[in-house]
Amino acid sequence: MKIASHLFVHLSLLVIVSCYGGNGYDPLENALKIQRSRRTTLNHASKDLEVKYSYSQVYVGPQDGLKDADKITKLPGQPAGVDFDQYSGYVTVDPIHGRALFYYLAESPVNSSTNPLVLWLNGGPGCSSFGGGAMMELGPFRVNTDNATLSRNKHAWNNVANVLFLESPAGVGFSYSNTSSDYITDDVQTAKDSYTFLINWLERFPEYKTRDFYIAGESYAGHYVPQLAKLILQNNKIANQTVINLKGIALGNAYVDDETENTGMYDYFWTHAIISDEIHEGIISNCNFSEGATITDACNEYQKQAYAAKSNVYFYDIYAPLCSPFSNSTPSISRFDPCTGNYILGYLNTPVVQQSLHAKPVHWESCNDFIGAHWKDMPFTVLPVIQDLMASGISVWIYSGDTDGRVPVTTSRYSINKLQTTVETPWYPWMYQGEVGGYVVGYQNLTFVTIRGAGHFVPSYQPGRALAFFTSFLEGKLPANH
Ligand SMILES: *[C@@H]1O[C@H](CO)[C@@H](O)[C@H](O)[C@H]1NC(C)=O
Ligand SMILES: *[C@@H]1O[C@H](CO)[C@@H](O)[C@H](O)[C@H]1NC(C)=O
Ligand SMILES: *[C@@H]1O[C@H](CO)[C@@H](O)[C@H](O)[C@H]1NC(C)=O
Ligand SMILES: *[C@@H]1O[C@H](CO)[C@@H](O)[C@H](O)[C@H]1NC(C)=O
Ligand SMILES: *[C@@H]1O[C@H](CO)[C@@H](O)[C@H](O)[C@H]1NC(C)=O
Ligand SMILES: *[C@@H]1O[C@H](CO)[C@@H](O)[C@H](O)[C@H]1NC(C)=O
Repeated sequence: MKIASHLFVHLSLLVIVSCYGGNGYDPLENALKIQRSRRTTLNHASKDLEVKYSYSQVYVGPQDGLKDADKITKLPGQPAGVDFDQYSGYVTVDPIHGRALFYYLAESPVNSSTNPLVLWLNGGPGCSSFGGGAMMELGPFRVNTDNATLSRNKHAWNNVANVLFLESPAGVGFSYSNTSSDYITDDVQTAKDSYTFLINWLERFPEYKTRDFYIAGESYAGHYVPQLAKLILQNNKIANQTVINLKGIALGNAYVDDETENTGMYDYFWTHAIISDEIHEGIISNCNFSEGATITDACNEYQKQAYAAKSNVYFYDIYAPLCSPFSNSTPSISRFDPCTGNYILGYLNTPVVQQSLHAKPVHWESCNDFIGAHWKDMPFTVLPVIQDLMASGISVWIYSGDTDGRVPVTTSRYSINKLQTTVETPWYPWMYQGEVGGYVVGYQNLTFVTIRGAGHFVPSYQPGRALAFFTSFLEGKLPANH
């Protein structure tokens, strides 16, 4: 049985590894399965986070001349009239191990010198912020079906911010380490490396040192973003350390709590007509997903039935077509091409593209499955970290594409219930181009926004609504109700 399922995983990876954006490949699910199977024997403690975070010895390497070297002259196939600056390259975060993180910066076409700096992180764990975040979701370009030319994304987030995409941790995308044991990593190391990256990057780009700074991310970045934010606030107190001017965080369809991830997902399946009443009832009466509870055989059986019932509905956007060579799928309601992941894979593995990005010649993949499978420490919940951030005075937004089945909107709502904050501005529809863009609730120290008709990769499916919500986030205003 075990061998059979391993074989299945390997075979299916061969076929679908290229297609994060369009079929059954599910890096978060794979990582959660492994973590949850360990949790039945290991009662996970999430209370020692605080201690592990203390970190004051940051490596700072020489950065002179590196900014100029990182300037991208032109990406192969980019359209004419590109009116913003792009940079990419490596920042060494551990010179002894030879560990370096790859970034891509897309500056704003207008007001770049005053617009905020936003760090964007994809999740996985193990998935690329450049290939996913920049090339498929919110970056300035989309790769065309020829794998070779780019077109402009008119709703790119660099219209309103200078966006820094970081491939994190080492082993993801173009980021690497010369010490292969570094690829067995965890939340804490990822936060430390991202922090070290930022401190060094700000030496390379000193004009951003005092700029308003935000961190946004989705999915498993629901762990990365709060943990990094907390580390920044903590280290900002160390006198001789660069102060990072952190103003806020945004978490999209974010995995922040394992209990609500489970309860929210099965409730979403049921209310979206994916599983039967009987399976849902079986889960409700047999499963206790809270921390430390034992998952019974009966619960596992009903969960298996739920996955079987779901069939090959695309987890990350339940009403979207699959990327399939065998069928001419109906077009997606969002008009997002489900095979986009293939074009990105083709483009980023073209040698001249890698050269223009100053990347090492490697086989680039959207997600590194080794990283996800070997993740050491995945806290059961990061809600206490989010609560600390809420009380710290930075702005905390949780947003959710409402057609995601992977980390669905129910999960986000159950997580917010657990945060025990109070409603200040009750639920209302926000408007974009005369239609409901989604819904908003303003809580004490927290804003919740849904993006209507968007799956997990919100800016891919609803680019206009996503940019409107993101602009509100940066302005610190609730999205408009007109
Ligand atoms: C990794 O090793 C290569 C080959 O020795 C070296 O050129 C590179 O600088 C090393 N990377 C880091 C981050 O030290
Ligand atoms: C640039 O900044 C000016 C001054 O704040 C503002 O009026 C203008 O709308 C901004 N332009 C864009 C495209 O953001
Ligand atoms: C910062 O201060 C600590 C102790 O106060 C010292 O050990 C460290 O070397 C200092 N770092 C820098 C970069 O000056
Ligand atoms: C679920 O498990 C937790 C942890 O063991 C326990 O405290 C709680 O009472 C259980 N809930 C139910 C409904 O049994
Ligand atoms: C684009 O790249 C994908 C992934 O490598 C490949 O399967 C496909 O055949 C390529 N398409 C073209 C038009 O080259
Ligand atoms: C909101 O923040 C204030 C301090 O800024 C804090 O006193 C209060 O407890 C916070 N409330 C919540 C629900 O986070």
